[in-house]
Amino acid sequence: MRKTIVAGNWKMNMDLEEGLSLARSLDQYFRNTPSGKTEVIICTPFIHLTGVSDIIKGGSIKLGAQNCASEVSGAFTGEVSASMIKSTGAEYVIIGHSERRSYYHEDNDMLSKKTGIALDTGLNVIFCCGEVKDEREAGVHFNIVKCQLEEGLFNLDAEKMEKIIIAYEPVWAIGTGLTATPEQAQEMHKHIRSLVRDKYGNSVSDNMTILYGGSCKPSNAAEIFSNPDVDGGLIGGASLKKDDFVAIVEAG
Ligand code: PGA
Repeated sequence: MRKTIVAGNWKMNMDLEEGLSLARSLDQYFRNTPSGKTEVIICTPFIHLTGVSDIIKGGSIKLGAQNCASEVSGAFTGEVSASMIKSTGAEYVIIGHSERRSYYHEDNDMLSKKTGIALDTGLNVIFCCGEVKDEREAGVHFNIVKCQLEEGLFNLDAEKMEKIIIAYEPVWAIGTGLTATPEQAQEMHKHIRSLVRDKYGNSVSDNMTILYGGSCKPSNAAEIFSNPDVDGGLIGGASLKKDDFVAIVEAG
């Protein structure tokens, strides 16, 4: 059965105390009001992971990081490895977010390496893909996403692919207030699912959770999530406000 997931991506926001306080109020809310069939994940900055992990223990919220190193361990000053992330209690990691691709020049080869290490460590991967505005305007968005998936993910075997959640995030919609229309989201999600089907078969593709991300908010989440190939969302800005995030989860 395909999971519905709403994942918050806090990005580089909130100091430790602010982050723990948001985690406490989300934890309290979802202990009292279970999110039903929707799984809730929060992807925090590295330094928040341990504290948030303690807060959510025994509850229903799951924890993730937003990136991991492309090496297993060793002399890589400033990096944080997948196994360090796992040791905090986190179960997920976002790989290939467009901000990592564009500001830190992470290419498909590097993302493929990170994904392999994260999976070997036992983390589940939220793998992001999506085209920039010029690519959509040029009509090459389907090909761009195909290439990101083929080069970044499709070297995995089927068993590992089952640990992947794909997040389609059109870059022109991230943090801009512009959202893909429900039709644009559905047609790309359908395309992604058919690429997964061609490579891995019906069972993997039918069970694959494909999230939409990009200016998702309480007012548009239900309509976007109601599409047959959209299985929830990856939420940036609106995940920083408890009430907005809860409303989006409840739209899931
Ligand atoms: P946004 O970000 O919801 O603020 O547009 C989404 C994301 O980057 O994951």
